[in-house]
Amino acid sequence: MKIIKKPEELQKAIEALKKKGKTVGLVPTMGALHAGHISLMKKSVSQNDITVVSVYVNPIQFGPNEDYERYPRPVEHDIKVCKENKVDFLFLPTNETLYNDNFSTYIYNNKLAKIMCGVTRPIHFQGVCTVVSKLFNIAMPTRAYFGLKDYQQYVIVKQMAKDLNFNIKVIGCPIVREKSGLAMSSRNTYLSQQAKQDAAGIYKSLCLAKQQFCEGKKLKDIKKKLEKNILAVAESKIDYIELRNSENLDLAADKDKSVVIAVAVKVGNVRLIDNIVCKK
Ligand code: PAJ
Repeated sequence: MKIIKKPEELQKAIEALKKKGKTVGLVPTMGALHAGHISLMKKSVSQNDITVVSVYVNPIQFGPNEDYERYPRPVEHDIKVCKENKVDFLFLPTNETLYNDNFSTYIYNNKLAKIMCGVTRPIHFQGVCTVVSKLFNIAMPTRAYFGLKDYQQYVIVKQMAKDLNFNIKVIGCPIVREKSGLAMSSRNTYLSQQAKQDAAGIYKSLCLAKQQFCEGKKLKDIKKKLEKNILAVAESKIDYIELRNSENLDLAADKDKSVVIAVAVKVGNVRLIDNIVCKK
């Protein structure tokens, strides 16, 4: 595995490989790699000749009072995980190499970035889209892998690739969970053992909501019940509960065949997101 820090260096290496007809898979991450990230790497390795993983805590997607400083950065662990999973290139850029002093060009989705997580995190998706498009231009992948854990991010990136004519297949990968049902996340390290157990109640509530959807219950009743169940999780505070069309994130209607039920919940002071896709 080659570790590369400079964007130009990765671009050059990939250009040469693509000239030889190799396919390239990209897995963008912010590190503190866990089984969720590994599932994306494995998928990329199985579908492409070359796999690039980027590990970069992107400052421009964090709001002023968010956890940019505190975000875990276990670099040696991340290198080991990538090596063990047959990654070919680990891209470790720095703020200096990615954002020059005059950096002033941003990518923003004028519709999808305003809803759900975008309400309390107004600059978040602009930061994500900007860094992901930079990574797309640097790694020039054939395919790029995103987890459905961050469902809104996945839909926004897919839309961005379409809107801006990136010739890249954006692939969504299933959510990997702890045995308890808690969705894996680098931010779970902020939770105490007790809070982790409590937070597993979020997934249980989502499963119940899915069951009700499949039984044909009205969306507003499903939402009401879900709200009640999530509020029963110790120290929980609901940021949002949303039922949306799983394709375009429009507000879901009772006639919709495929709906994503997405939640953002604070457990103590840790904000967690999770979702479940329900199909009729
Ligand atoms: P990060 O939170 O590190 O996640 C990197 C990728 O791993 C994302 O596509 C995310 O959806 C996926 N992922 C995280 N937890 C997962 C889980 N439990 N199951 C399946 N996939 C999971 O998302 C980001 O970083 C950043 O916003 C990024 C796209 C790298 C841009 O900076």
